[in-house]
Amino acid sequence: MNICIFASGTGSNFQAILNAKSKREIQSRICLLITNNSKCGAVEIAKNYSVDVVHISRKLYPDLDPVQYSNLFISALKKYEIDLIVLAGYMKKIGKEVVQEYYNRIINIHPALLPSFGGENMFGLNVHRAVIESGVKVSGLTIHFVNQDYDQGKIIFQKCVEVSDDDDAFSLQKKILIYEHESYPEVIKRIENGLIKIGEKQ
Ligand code: GRF
Repeated sequence: MNICIFASGTGSNFQAILNAKSKREIQSRICLLITNNSKCGAVEIAKNYSVDVVHISRKLYPDLDPVQYSNLFISALKKYEIDLIVLAGYMKKIGKEVVQEYYNRIINIHPALLPSFGGENMFGLNVHRAVIESGVKVSGLTIHFVNQDYDQGKIIFQKCVEVSDDDDAFSLQKKILIYEHESYPEVIKRIENGLIKIGEKQ
């Protein structure tokens, strides 16, 4: 498969996917990074691995209507003949035209057990703070297809991580991130092997 990563931040999941590729644990080509933040860590990682970067941000294209803006993404994705889009800390909502064009071909990783602790403002430490405040003893990660509603697409993989009494949001984030780094390449491998089907109607 040809994979495009979407990222806005540090890019540690992107790095984990590249590591898995280096170790031949996954076979796909990591062809492209699309980012809204040209100064983020993920861009540096892309440069180190000679992965092409396309920077698309509303600030660059303030006059485009939503359809024209979505078409920027679709053109880049078509140019690289992308089969699978992997969101790895991408902080912007994906346009509905992109979701339609790549139906069940966009996956996201969320650092909690959906459908709990998801939704519009549930990102980064907000998620882990909410988990700690709720008092639950188990959190984890979820990998799911992306649809038009935040964190509500079909779940394809979950892993549980224990919340210890002495955990705070920071320690929990750190703990879960380690599992994210092994889980995302594992899911890509399952897609490559046909164990998880992409592109099908739900
Ligand atoms: C991860 O916690 C992921 O679950 C969430 O965003 C974070 C991205 O981290 N979607 P990184 O940029 O991959 O380090």
